[in-house]
Amino acid sequence: MAVHEAAGASTPGQANLRDHSVILGLGYVGLPLAQQAVRSGVKVVGLDLSERVVNGLNAGRSHVDDLSSADIDEMREKGFSATTDPSVIVDADTVVICVPTPLSDDGGPDLSAVQSAAETVGDHLRSGTLVVLESTTYPGTTDEFMRPILESRSGLVAGRDFSLAFSPERIDPGRQDFGVKNTPKVVGGFSPECTRQATKFYSRFIDTVVEARGTREAEMAKLLENTYRHVNIAMVNEMAQFCHELDIDLWNVIELAKTKPFGFQAFYPGPGVGGHCIPIDPNYLSHRVKQRLGYPFRFVELAQEINASMPNYVAQRAQNLLNADKLAINGATVLLLGVTYKANIGDQRQSPAVPLAKRLQHLGAQVVFHDPHVEQWNVTGVTKADPDPIAAAAAADLVILVQNHREYDVDALEAASTRFLDTRGVPGSSSRL
Ligand SMILES: NC(=O)c1ccc[n+]([C@@H]2O[C@H](COP(=O)([O-])OP(=O)(O)OC[C@H]3O[C@@H](n4cnc5c(N)ncnc54)[C@H](O)[C@@H]3O)[C@@H](O)[C@H]2O)c1
Repeated sequence: MAVHEAAGASTPGQANLRDHSVILGLGYVGLPLAQQAVRSGVKVVGLDLSERVVNGLNAGRSHVDDLSSADIDEMREKGFSATTDPSVIVDADTVVICVPTPLSDDGGPDLSAVQSAAETVGDHLRSGTLVVLESTTYPGTTDEFMRPILESRSGLVAGRDFSLAFSPERIDPGRQDFGVKNTPKVVGGFSPECTRQATKFYSRFIDTVVEARGTREAEMAKLLENTYRHVNIAMVNEMAQFCHELDIDLWNVIELAKTKPFGFQAFYPGPGVGGHCIPIDPNYLSHRVKQRLGYPFRFVELAQEINASMPNYVAQRAQNLLNADKLAINGATVLLLGVTYKANIGDQRQSPAVPLAKRLQHLGAQVVFHDPHVEQWNVTGVTKADPDPIAAAAAADLVILVQNHREYDVDALEAASTRFLDTRGVPGSSSRL
């Protein structure tokens, strides 16, 4: 396995600098990547289908949590611009594709954005360009799905006329200690030369680049990382349920296990998994295994089942808390604190707060929400609580801490609440899941 540590910015005059890049898809992944590339002197044009995204960026407005509007201004001062015009691809040395890969209605991979991006790139591709896919997807996508589209639309041949690679994005939105620059970047090319070209590009602005054997290994590495998290979170979620019955404090158990300096990594229970990765990516893998080999990937299916059951479990615990005081959940006011999929960001995608709210409503509760990161939450029948979380907590029959945003003083919130359920295991909280 080859690992390349960046030797610093390339000097002018060096051949084939890969200086002009187009980043296609300017969301949570594409925009931070563009920022890091621009900071290192790479000229970046951002290409997106959305007029709203492009106009916002060109007016200096950020639409993702990890970048402020000041960051966009800094990028623009360094030459970044955004466009909806795909002809910019003609002038690019490198095109990086960062488009969404959601699930389709039947739970399988929805590669429609990758397909349309590949068609767009293929229509404008010229000889010598490097094309990299960063979207999370099943192993084989770059070679079996994207390469034929690029080749047929351009008339060029991968590995001969243009370079093709996959490089998984490992970004963790909201994280301060690891970002694009200091998180090692895995790259896997269609051929060894394609890998070399991709390494050369990313080494310009990322500290460590790790070469995979090929595109499939790079695609699979990302799915291993996410499946590992999915399975371990499911394990502690299942433990949380029986530990509660056995009167064992699982949070304390995890702190004890964590004192072992090797062979253990802590995962924590919660109200369910959310975001763009954990609830989606492992399904790409299990779908692929079943489609190609005819048998299930049992770990993923079990993890999916357990993690998806957590919102209902939290609702049941809420019902039990009211029941202990001889109250019904039917007609009770339940306040959800934090409705994003993780703390300290505004991303609502796949948030477990949605099925939780729906379950509580199904049981007859009047659900209200408070979230300093969310202006509008589109769950029918749920209303916005008092902007002061303490006043909102005092007004509810039951408060559920779903995400522990840094703005929350959990001790004060718990003290103000008549009944409190902490799904995040905040130290000192006496009402943990
Ligand atoms: N968000 C994360 O934390 C994260 C982390 C690691 C990997 N990923 C993966 O990265 C990929 C992108 O995710 P994201 O969170 O950045 O998505 P996003 O929805 O935030 O952004 C995607 C952008 O792509 C644009 N787009 C869609 N189709 C396009 C096309 N054909 N041409 C041009 N633009 C197009 C959309 O308008 C949007 O602005 C996904 O595969 C995701 O699984 C996401």
